[in-house]
Amino acid sequence: MVSEPTGLAIEATGLVKTFGDNRAVDGIDLAVPAGTVYGVLGPNGAGKTTAVKMLATLLRPDGGTATVFGHDIVGEADKVRGKVSMTGQYASVDEDLTGAENLTLLARLVGHRKPAARARAAELLEAFGLTEAAGRQVKKYSGGMRRRLDIAASIIKTPQVLFLDEPTTGLDPRSRNQVWDIVRIIVGQGTTVLLTTQYLDEADHLASRIAVIDHGKVIAEGTPGELKASVGAGSVHVRLRHADRRAEAEQLLNKILSVEVRLEPDPVALTARLSGTVSDAGAAEQAAKALTELAAAGITVDDFSLGQPSLDEVFMALTDRPATTQEESR
Ligand SMILES: Nc1ncnc2c1ncn2[C@@H]1O[C@H](COP(=O)(O)OP(=O)(O)O)[C@@H](O)[C@H]1O
Ligand SMILES: [Mg+2]
Repeated sequence: MVSEPTGLAIEATGLVKTFGDNRAVDGIDLAVPAGTVYGVLGPNGAGKTTAVKMLATLLRPDGGTATVFGHDIVGEADKVRGKVSMTGQYASVDEDLTGAENLTLLARLVGHRKPAARARAAELLEAFGLTEAAGRQVKKYSGGMRRRLDIAASIIKTPQVLFLDEPTTGLDPRSRNQVWDIVRIIVGQGTTVLLTTQYLDEADHLASRIAVIDHGKVIAEGTPGELKASVGAGSVHVRLRHADRRAEAEQLLNKILSVEVRLEPDPVALTARLSGTVSDAGAAEQAAKALTELAAAGITVDDFSLGQPSLDEVFMALTDRPATTQEESR
């Protein structure tokens, strides 16, 4: 695989797309290193799909430029198309066919002879945990199986860049983990993955770098660590048995965690947002120490948890307001 001298799979400068007077994508710059997973994180309506569709040559930009492995997405759209794939766009899965039939058909369409097409289908079904369901009609698949088949269909011919647009939205935690494993397999084989998501933890688990987008603009960019450093590593939530011990608990937590402790409206609840400079392991260690010290002081704790920062917390930290979705869909 030949990459640019810059090592970038995708480079975008000032990309714009308007629908009427709605600037859906309002001047986005992106630099996606080859061979990595790059996360584009933002709420519903932020402009993720529109941006990805322009990069995949499915929509023509109204302003700005972008290249995929050095090829201009407008001037050399054919070359770009030869390198990219987007789930659910190029490869449409037929609900009445079985998983194996769908993948074999698609492999035939990209030029494999029948035995090679069958072999490629079998290989993907196996890699994505669908061998048992291979002979079943797709309309009888669960949501998670369907999502995995969609991804398999989009990599029949290994693309250099794969666009995964919210691949886990609406999936249960187990199916989400299966999709994450698949993303890791794909990037392990050298494909650059651009993944859009509404979940910070998903971007954190998979991506080497993340761009946070809001109203068509990139409002933050960096490694997950850098992003969390501006947001906080997560929050410790505590509920006490007795409200009259809260002042004491507050002092204790403040001393151990060295951060401000918030008293919740609920008279037995406290929250402390951990400093973003601590690692996940560090956060867990601090939380464990806090719990031990509370017990040692004879303060009874009914409920204790360490939560990862959510997209809302990221938006609160970056924009001083929660993530607003343009369509009130969730
Ligand atoms: N084909 C279209 N016609 C008109 N408006 C659109 C179209 N596609 C998207 N939009 C609007 O552009 C904005 C960004 O949408 P989208 O890119 O789908 O966001 P996301 O994928 O982040 O949810 C939204 O306000 C959406 O309503
Ligand atoms: Mg979208």
